[in-house]
Amino acid sequence: MNCVGIDILEVERFIDMSENENKMKKIFTQNEIQYFQNFKENLMHIAGCFCAKEAVAKAFKTGFGKLLSPIDVEIMHNKDGSPFINTNNLRLNNLLKGRKIEISISHTKNFATAICVIE
Ligand SMILES: CC(C)(COP(=O)(O)OP(=O)(O)OC[C@H]1O[C@@H](n2cnc3c(N)ncnc32)[C@H](O)[C@@H]1OP(=O)(O)O)[C@@H](O)C(=O)NCCC(=O)NCCS
Repeated sequence: MNCVGIDILEVERFIDMSENENKMKKIFTQNEIQYFQNFKENLMHIAGCFCAKEAVAKAFKTGFGKLLSPIDVEIMHNKDGSPFINTNNLRLNNLLKGRKIEISISHTKNFATAICVIE
């Protein structure tokens, strides 16, 4: 059975968090933070990345808690800009059990959204 998760967030919710390095490091990996630094206006990318993490948590039906935390779900990007999940994480793999996971992210200045499908 395929599983799907979706999330949408207001970009402005990330204004405070983006200015707090400690908070950022609790939620986003070093690679993700480095990715955000590629953009002058990066709030929508931060919001999109967070949406993708939540979409994954929804697709697994676990939400974030003991089994999975936002930092376990690392969003990476292919050369063409398309996002994918780094599956090199023990807790993620325990839930994934060898299935394929796909995500897609979209954002405007005000809203970010993401969807996750687990095959
Ligand atoms: C891939 C593409 C469709 C993305 O469209 P977009 O409207 O800029 O994208 P959105 O703002 O909705 O979403 C951005 C997210 O798309 C994702 N993305 C970027 N490139 C992607 C790609 N090649 N494939 C899939 N997803 C992609 C990323 O996750 C990105 O967010 P992030 O960098 O914060 O992670 C666009 O870059 C593209 O190639 N457009 C083709 C334009 C074109 O050919 N126009 C001429 C004919 S009308």
